[in-house]
Amino acid sequence: MSTPEPAKPIDGVCWLTGASSGIGEALVADLVNEGWRVAISARSEDKLKALADKHPGKVFAYAVDITDDQAVAETVTRIEADHGPIARAVLNAGVYISINAESPSFEDYARTFDVNLKGAAACVCALTPRMCERRSGQIVIVSSATAFGGMPTSTAYGATKAGLLNMAEGLAIELHRYGVLVQCVTPGFVDTPAQDDNAFPKPFMVSAEIAAARICKGMGRKGFEITFPKRFTWALKLIYALPRDWHIALVRKQTGWNKPPE
Ligand SMILES: NC(=O)c1ccc[n+]([C@@H]2O[C@H](COP(=O)([O-])OP(=O)(O)OC[C@H]3O[C@@H](n4cnc5c(N)ncnc54)[C@H](OP(=O)(O)O)[C@@H]3O)[C@@H](O)[C@H]2O)c1
Repeated sequence: MSTPEPAKPIDGVCWLTGASSGIGEALVADLVNEGWRVAISARSEDKLKALADKHPGKVFAYAVDITDDQAVAETVTRIEADHGPIARAVLNAGVYISINAESPSFEDYARTFDVNLKGAAACVCALTPRMCERRSGQIVIVSSATAFGGMPTSTAYGATKAGLLNMAEGLAIELHRYGVLVQCVTPGFVDTPAQDDNAFPKPFMVSAEIAAARICKGMGRKGFEITFPKRFTWALKLIYALPRDWHIALVRKQTGWNKPPE
């Protein structure tokens, strides 16, 4: 059985979560340029409406909080009733909350797990039965290069992104025989509002527009992983391929966490 084909605009509508800002907002224009009708979701209704108004008849706002699984299921039902089958779903909504181990916040852990992991699970649960029945579809899960291995201050975010990469791999294995293509995006640093609170050095950071272009290109192909900028993400992959004691020591040194606390 050959790898499922990427979805095409003629197959139905594209559903994009996290569309009100950053990478998601930049993706909207690229998807429209490729001929897609796009159903966009996030919590900020005003931002979604303003974005939809820029692309009349092509972009449609569906505000939803993805931590509410019932609301997510209803949104998917509404989108399909209004615009036909969701042929491609880009599960991009996410939060980054920096957590220090000296003074961690359980709420910050829980919030990160809720939005990034449970939110994606709510979307998957609403989508896969429909796609399996149709024997077609494309699900693109936005993870991060932090999925490759542990990073200081990313103990909640990195854990969710590693979870999402694992979730996407499992889905790619299961859904192949239903003709559903599953892909995972593992970007390095992207210049978006999510990075405003990240005091970490950000080597090889790319703009949201470049990230969107790379994601669109990858979604038009069959490859499982869409990763960029490769000089950064491949270097990280190499570091994390070392024995764990070695890469933990190396990352500790490279990030400055080998120095005594002040
Ligand atoms: N920026 C980076 O360096 C980077 C690197 C690797 C991966 N990523 C990933 O790329 C994705 C997009 O990030 P970004 O950098 O573009 O961040 P961003 O500008 O902060 O955008 C995040 C989006 O997620 C939405 N969102 C947050 N909580 C939500 C909720 N409970 N329900 C529905 N929507 C919610 C936000 O909309 P509302 O606030 O309106 O709900 C917003 O549209 C995330 O998954 C992020 O982890 C980012």
